[in-house]
Amino acid sequence: MRKLFVTGGAGFIGSAFVRLLLDELPACEIVNFDALTYAGNPDNLAGLDPARHRFVRGDICDRAAVLGALEADTDALFNFAAESHVDRSIHSADEFLRTNVLGTQVLLDAARSLGARRFVQVSTDEVMGSLPERDDAFFTEDSPFAPNSPYSASKAAAEHLVRAAHHTHGVDAVVTRCGNNYGPRQFPEKFLPLMLANAMNDEPIPVYGDGQNVRDWIYVEDHCRAILLAAERGRAGAVYNVGARNERRNLEVAESVLDALGKPRSLLRFVKDRPGHDRRYAIDPGLAERELGWRPRETWQSGLKKTIEWYAANGEWLARARGGAYREFYERQYGEN
Ligand SMILES: NC(=O)c1ccc[n+]([C@@H]2O[C@H](COP(=O)([O-])OP(=O)(O)OC[C@H]3O[C@@H](n4cnc5c(N)ncnc54)[C@H](O)[C@@H]3O)[C@@H](O)[C@H]2O)c1
Repeated sequence: MRKLFVTGGAGFIGSAFVRLLLDELPACEIVNFDALTYAGNPDNLAGLDPARHRFVRGDICDRAAVLGALEADTDALFNFAAESHVDRSIHSADEFLRTNVLGTQVLLDAARSLGARRFVQVSTDEVMGSLPERDDAFFTEDSPFAPNSPYSASKAAAEHLVRAAHHTHGVDAVVTRCGNNYGPRQFPEKFLPLMLANAMNDEPIPVYGDGQNVRDWIYVEDHCRAILLAAERGRAGAVYNVGARNERRNLEVAESVLDALGKPRSLLRFVKDRPGHDRRYAIDPGLAERELGWRPRETWQSGLKKTIEWYAANGEWLARARGGAYREFYERQYGEN
């Protein structure tokens, strides 16, 4: 029986990863350690097999809590827990430094002292900054760090700590860096579920600036498969860029959503740009393809279709997720436009 420890497993990607593990690795037991911040949603864990999945509410910065929940001889620790929203990091960076930086160090120390066999750090392409608009420029694993937001700076710092733990203490660690995920159960402050929710309710859809910023979109389950392969086949100390070769301009994404829902483009509202908004991210996933044998399974069309169908069928999830904390943030961010 493989023992796996997942942090942030009540969030968007972490919960998809836990589901993938339970579906694809029958002989595994998961401890899902999550603080349930505004982004952690217990609804994301509905229906999981309690015999193989144990949820522990805890903060990755709380050393005693982590040491209490992490079992000795854990096969792999997957760190998804993070403050993940760039806009929030612009309003206030404190929580980003605490969770993303200090929390990662606490987990590295715990993994080392309890003999976890592998540490997987889930990182982001944003640590490499912004690319020129030319379509022959891509992020590779050797691209220099150039984070432009407090969020990406904190994720870059976390990567440095993972690298240092590997080099100094021999922690067996692998890092994955991915682009923009989309799919079921994403907290509706993020671009795609926000658009979907608004469009379904015939509410205006805010698009930053001129809408020409380019992101590399990947279906969440494809990202999760890459993380699992990195844990199973990745070289200790390696970084793997994960991307589906699916660059899209934000405006094009918004239009695809409206078209798929049969809603008019008149719902689009261009709003004041985010300060320091990175222009283009694009990932060269060649190394993950060659070394891990990873390939995305979904196309943009098939992934978007699955995503829209999930949100359409899960109105109650969406209504609950859109309550409280989300509303307050939304008013502050877009209220004056
Ligand atoms: N969403 C993306 O497109 C994307 C792309 C690349 C990388 N990533 C990375 O993937 C990871 C997961 O992203 P997501 O979109 O699922 O984020 P999310 O915000 O949906 O979920 C984060 C989860 O972490 C938990 N958490 C936050 N602080 C915690 C703490 N101190 N202790 C324990 N748990 C805590 C939250 O409760 C939540 O369940 C993050 O590390 C993020 O940087 C995300």
